[in-house]
Amino acid sequence: MSHINSSTLAIPEVGSIPRHVAVIMDGNGRWARNKLLPRIMGHRRGVDSLRTLVKSAMDMGISYITLFAFSSENWRRPSDEVSMLMQLFLTVLKKEITRLHRHNIRLKVIGDVSQFDATLQEVIRASVQLTQHNTQLTLTIAANYGGRWDVLQAVNALLQSKPHMKNEAITESDLLPFLSTSDIPEPDLFIRTGGEKRMSNFLLWQLAYTELYFTDTLWPDFNESSLREAVLSYQLRERRFGRTSEQVIHSNWPSVSTAL
Ligand code: IPE
Ligand code: IPE
Ligand code: MG
Repeated sequence: MSHINSSTLAIPEVGSIPRHVAVIMDGNGRWARNKLLPRIMGHRRGVDSLRTLVKSAMDMGISYITLFAFSSENWRRPSDEVSMLMQLFLTVLKKEITRLHRHNIRLKVIGDVSQFDATLQEVIRASVQLTQHNTQLTLTIAANYGGRWDVLQAVNALLQSKPHMKNEAITESDLLPFLSTSDIPEPDLFIRTGGEKRMSNFLLWQLAYTELYFTDTLWPDFNESSLREAVLSYQLRERRFGRTSEQVIHSNWPSVSTAL
């Protein structure tokens, strides 16, 4: 069953619109600093970009969006920024959840939420539960998420579930059901705003064959046309998954000829 979700176990079908877009929303602090504003103002404006992204992505027919909201390393920031980010997360979730639900959006949260305060944990739980059967878009928020944490928690959960497998080698199929993204496809397109070219411990496992797109645009300035630009760039890529270009062209040939 998990084979469908792995680009290394099976070659995925690809369309011209990415099915799943994963985003590192970076550059809020610099956006604020450029305007001589406190960093939190950048985070607040970032929420507006987030709303625009969700709307534009739905209009384009994208089915999954995964957003890096708070990394497992972001606790290293000054404590007042951390608490303001937590407060913002809580406020936005409470304010937006009915709208998300009305638009048939399923909310998913990945990461170690047990480190959040009880109120936030409860709002997350209720929001996820409210929207669990929605089908238009799956919006995944990575909160206190780390790619290494994800792989480790999956290994540990697998070992817990099979106490007798000590001497067997773990396969990819064994592990997949335990990753926090087990019920969603791997990202087709990864976008990082803010100019940095690194993964910062985001979806390390899941991005194995994802097309990477980096832009200098700071997250609060990211809008619908920025998303279109990223998708246009994606459409120019040839996703080979290890094969030769000739093989790719051949495998696409019937659908290309119908399109013409
Ligand atoms: C990304 O913006 C948002 C979070 C990490 C929560 P930053 O706050 O990292 O902005 P810069 O990188 O300092 O500009
Ligand atoms: C990555 O951005 C995390 C989020 C966007 C939530 P950071 O700003 O924390 O990444 P680094 O520290 O520059 O690598
Ligand atoms: Mg940053």
